[in-house]
Amino acid sequence: MTLLVQLTDTHIVEPGHRLYNKADTAAHLADAVAQINAMSPQPDRVMITGDLVEHPGQETYDHFARLIEPLHAPVNLLPGNHDDPAILREQFDGTGCFPAEGPTYQYTIEDLPFRILALNSHYAGSELPAFGPRRLAWLEAALEESDRPTMIAIHHPPMITGVEFIDMVGVDWYADIARVIAANSQVRLVICGHGHTDLVGTIAHAPVYMAGSIAHQLVAARGNDHAPGFDNRPVAPVLHHWLGERFVSGSHPWPAWVDDHRIDTESGLAWTELKDRMRGSMR
Ligand SMILES: [Fe+2]
Repeated sequence: MTLLVQLTDTHIVEPGHRLYNKADTAAHLADAVAQINAMSPQPDRVMITGDLVEHPGQETYDHFARLIEPLHAPVNLLPGNHDDPAILREQFDGTGCFPAEGPTYQYTIEDLPFRILALNSHYAGSELPAFGPRRLAWLEAALEESDRPTMIAIHHPPMITGVEFIDMVGVDWYADIARVIAANSQVRLVICGHGHTDLVGTIAHAPVYMAGSIAHQLVAARGNDHAPGFDNRPVAPVLHHWLGERFVSGSHPWPAWVDDHRIDTESGLAWTELKDRMRGSMR
């Protein structure tokens, strides 16, 4: 059993400021860190899938680094459209959080029961993704190296979402990624962020889990092309639970009161007795 917790789109700004004068993104991230540190058992890894900061620079990345520093579990990072991969590499040099080299700024994680390929969809000067021939060649070579079960982590969602402001980039940018995944059955799951809303879709045979944002959500109706609404609330951390053959993924809040409100504590009955009652006549 291996537990990977995903956070995404933390959009940290300079200390003392709010994102768009609205979202206290530092407080939202600090709360997510506290929830993860309280989890029992502890996750084996925390992956933060891009848009770590709103504007890349030393002050914002230092602020981000201070906020994630209390995490007990090891952390890995990805660049999003709001990040700068080269600055990110420099800021986290020697920490193991972002061991990526230019020009692709992609890397593999090999110390878990499944591999993680951390991809880079950043495209300088745009919020839209890019995945050119060098990044693609790296992906193909990395998958050729091993047939161990593999998770791919990337900031932008390489899938159709049904949400116009996400889908407006089209399908061409990830067509080659889809072709490579289709030829590699060891790819079990793709995780991403970017949309500031949580959705599950597919690419080739693999599910794609797009986690909601720690900074704020974007609320978009389906079937029209109105601008999305800004919802100043974070989501809970997402848990990707590796069960040896497959991942099971979902929202995984861990509020401080969880042990006080366990149903055995509240009822005064032992958990084994409660489970027997659940089984009922199936016993
Ligand atoms: Fe974002």
